[in-house]
Amino acid sequence: MKVTLITGASIGIGEGFARRLAAEGHDLVLVARSEKTLHELCDELMLKHGTMAHYVAIDLTEPDSDARLFAETEKHGFEVDWLINNAGFGSYGDFAKLDLDHEKGMIDLNIRVLIALTSRYLAGMRERKSGQIINVSSAAGFQPIPFMATYAATKAFVTSFSEALAAENSPYGIKVLALCPGSTKTNFQAAAKMDRVIQVKGQQTVEEVIDTAMRSVKSGRTRVVSGFTNDIVSRIVNFVPNALITRVMAKGLRDKYQEDR
Ligand SMILES: NC(=O)c1ccc[n+]([C@@H]2O[C@H](COP(=O)([O-])OP(=O)(O)OC[C@H]3O[C@@H](n4cnc5c(N)ncnc54)[C@H](OP(=O)(O)O)[C@@H]3O)[C@@H](O)[C@H]2O)c1
Repeated sequence: MKVTLITGASIGIGEGFARRLAAEGHDLVLVARSEKTLHELCDELMLKHGTMAHYVAIDLTEPDSDARLFAETEKHGFEVDWLINNAGFGSYGDFAKLDLDHEKGMIDLNIRVLIALTSRYLAGMRERKSGQIINVSSAAGFQPIPFMATYAATKAFVTSFSEALAAENSPYGIKVLALCPGSTKTNFQAAAKMDRVIQVKGQQTVEEVIDTAMRSVKSGRTRVVSGFTNDIVSRIVNFVPNALITRVMAKGLRDKYQEDR
């Protein structure tokens, strides 16, 4: 059975993808840690749309998580035709004072797991000569961001990796999209303890981000920034030296960070 696998599908952007794709007839495998939420979401989507929705409750930061998840989908005979690598989190603060295990966990989830799941499911896509991968990156990846140093760097990695992979795989009928949302109304900011520094004005909704992603899949784009202003800013930063960007951002964010202490 062909399925769409979405990581981080219990809430936020991942849940938005699950709702949209179930409505469009996709059979789903939803992955996150919150078992009860996933269970309820699967029941709701199956009842509403008559599609299949299976869940795997797993902490993807555990070292063997990708192997266990892959074994689970193989056991059920699922062919992952769409892979949405969405699970991720951020952190905010003075890197020297941030918890190292938390930063390492972020690199694990935002990068290692994304690479591992892509590698595992790409093999089947290559055999079938079809597939769609959506890697949820961020507009934060277009420039270094002081006080969000690790997070911005993980997303620079995701965008770069995705665009390279798109070119490698286009001859095999496989499409890869780096989806780069700007600030979006989800639990992300609270989880990263950055709710005080994020401008709520101008934030996009999950539905707007999903609309952008779906349009980009249809047109075969390999990278998209969600939101007009986010897109313009991401283009402008290409022309501004990183030294200037980081100086200005460090000043603003350092003041806010010190207010928080
Ligand atoms: N919101 C924004 O402003 C924004 C902007 C740009 C990019 N993004 C990116 O969008 C993606 C989704 O974020 P979001 O805004 O939807 O955040 P969110 O509302 O906090 O959702 C994060 C999702 O990831 C799952 N998750 C977190 N840690 C996990 C772990 N260890 N193992 C398995 N699943 C885990 C969470 O589920 P459980 O807690 O149930 O595990 C949840 O489903 C992330 O990659 C983020 O970097 C967000």
